[in-house]
Amino acid sequence: MSDRIRVLIPEEKVNQRIGEIAAQINHDYEGKSIHLICILKGSVFFTTELAKRLTIPVTMDFMSCSSYGAGTVSKGIVKLIKDLDEPIEGRDVLVIEDIIDSGNTLAYLMNLLQDRKPASLELATLLDKPARRVHHEVKVKYTCFEIDDLFVVGCGMDADQRYRNLPYIGVLEQD
Ligand code: IMP
Ligand code: MG
Repeated sequence: MSDRIRVLIPEEKVNQRIGEIAAQINHDYEGKSIHLICILKGSVFFTTELAKRLTIPVTMDFMSCSSYGAGTVSKGIVKLIKDLDEPIEGRDVLVIEDIIDSGNTLAYLMNLLQDRKPASLELATLLDKPARRVHHEVKVKYTCFEIDDLFVVGCGMDADQRYRNLPYIGVLEQD
């Protein structure tokens, strides 16, 4: 099986949009520090690109959960694999996600984090597929791009752990 990848959003456009979102965050959190929570592994690329463009004080932590396994269709089950290193009570927390699909992962994670009493809890995502949302209670404050119901790779997103390193967002076309 060979994969063909069609460029959906080129690298320059991704970076430009991350810059715009960073400017908005710098404005919204002026006078505060922000605690970024990167959801491993897919959000690593977006988190670092965003963090580099923030001028407010930044701290970071990482957590990992699984919802998909090796396939491309959500199983609807979320499992916490790695918890945060530090408490978030009283902090201004921004969760960073690569892509929101059904919202299943975030519905679970945002509930779990809200129970730890952060001063504020918001969500930023590189991509959103609103057409596939099941959990409408998941509110996204910062979205770089909304896309149609396509399976995408690159900028951290994978297909069976491959293609995370592509600097653009591509659509996987299998033949
Ligand atoms: P959700 O729980 O259905 O919202 O799925 C969220 C997670 O599924 C994301 O964090 C990704 O890891 C993965 N995912 C969803 N859509 C895609 C895609 O198009 N490409 C790669 N991973 C995806
Ligand atoms: Mg993910």
